[in-house]
Amino acid sequence: MSKLNQKKSNLISDKVSILKGLKNIRQKRIDSKYFYDEEGSILFEKITNLKEYYQTRTEMKILCQNKIDINKNSPMSASVIEFGSGSNKKIKKFISFLNAPSEYIPIDISEKYLYDKSKEFSKFFPKIKVLPICSDFQDISTIKKKLDNRKNLIGFFPGSTIGNISPYEAKKLLIKFSLLLGSQNKLLVGIDLIKKKNILEKAYNDDQGITERFNKNLLVRLNKEFNASINPKDFKHLAFFNSRKSRIEMHLKSKIKQHINILNETIILKEGETIHTENSYKYTIKNFSKLSEQSNFEILNVFTDIDNLFALFFLRVK
Ligand code: SAH
Ligand code: AVI
Repeated sequence: MSKLNQKKSNLISDKVSILKGLKNIRQKRIDSKYFYDEEGSILFEKITNLKEYYQTRTEMKILCQNKIDINKNSPMSASVIEFGSGSNKKIKKFISFLNAPSEYIPIDISEKYLYDKSKEFSKFFPKIKVLPICSDFQDISTIKKKLDNRKNLIGFFPGSTIGNISPYEAKKLLIKFSLLLGSQNKLLVGIDLIKKKNILEKAYNDDQGITERFNKNLLVRLNKEFNASINPKDFKHLAFFNSRKSRIEMHLKSKIKQHINILNETIILKEGETIHTENSYKYTIKNFSKLSEQSNFEILNVFTDIDNLFALFFLRVK
């Protein structure tokens, strides 16, 4: 498929997926991957600098404290693939711990941000080749084609982005990644750990309201790209820990009864009804260990911080 046709068909499948989610009778929902247009990526980067969002600074610290073990277990001249690369903040550390890495392959759906950050990376590491791939990281066949039988692969999947899909989906995704990377190759995955409810909920309800803007950016995007007629002020940001499912849930709660026009269809929202926009699953070391071992990986190391806030799992494909 040509690049243009690929884009068009993505847009059609995005439309179908968004409408299907908004028509769901039990719970209206939109996949959290739609947060990330350029504005969404910029807002996420702001979130990573918030005092309440402990995840990013903790993961950076864990990375730096374990550079010797990371180096020991990494191949020479590796091609490093990052799934959901965002701002490249962590890869700059990770890649500097490896043995003469030859190539960086960032994969992200946020197109402009991906290309801008790839250029920035090249300026920072002029000797490392950069091959950005704008794709859904679930779409392994597209990624595989671009990889062209490369052998020395190492995967990097930080940020607890894997927490944005259910444990069942996470298993399926890890199996796909294991097939993409190939036997004996490694993957470093970031996981947010279960902790006190107030710490978790604060991280998604920051004082400056940046997470609220990030959540509502979805509505702004629907207006811009999907011809919707939504007033973001008619919605309230909602984020809470669902302890039974071990996940933070983000929703947009309608303040009023309203009709939304989107893609030539009308969606009715009752007062107080929500659109479920994101899950962010939290794990214990034990249950993520089990999950990764059931997904074609063996565990080389589990790195964590002194307060057990976050963990990095260094995995090897069986
Ligand atoms: N790795 C960075 C960014 C994490 S934010 C960090 O650790 O800070 C999640 C990133 O994944 C965003 O940049 C978003 O655009 C991207 N993303 C989310 N879902 C995706 C998907 N299904 N396919 C590709 N990229 C995705
Ligand atoms: C990208 N992802 C792991 C973030 C998270 O914490 O689930 C996205 C996010 N949502 C709200 N704040 C940050």
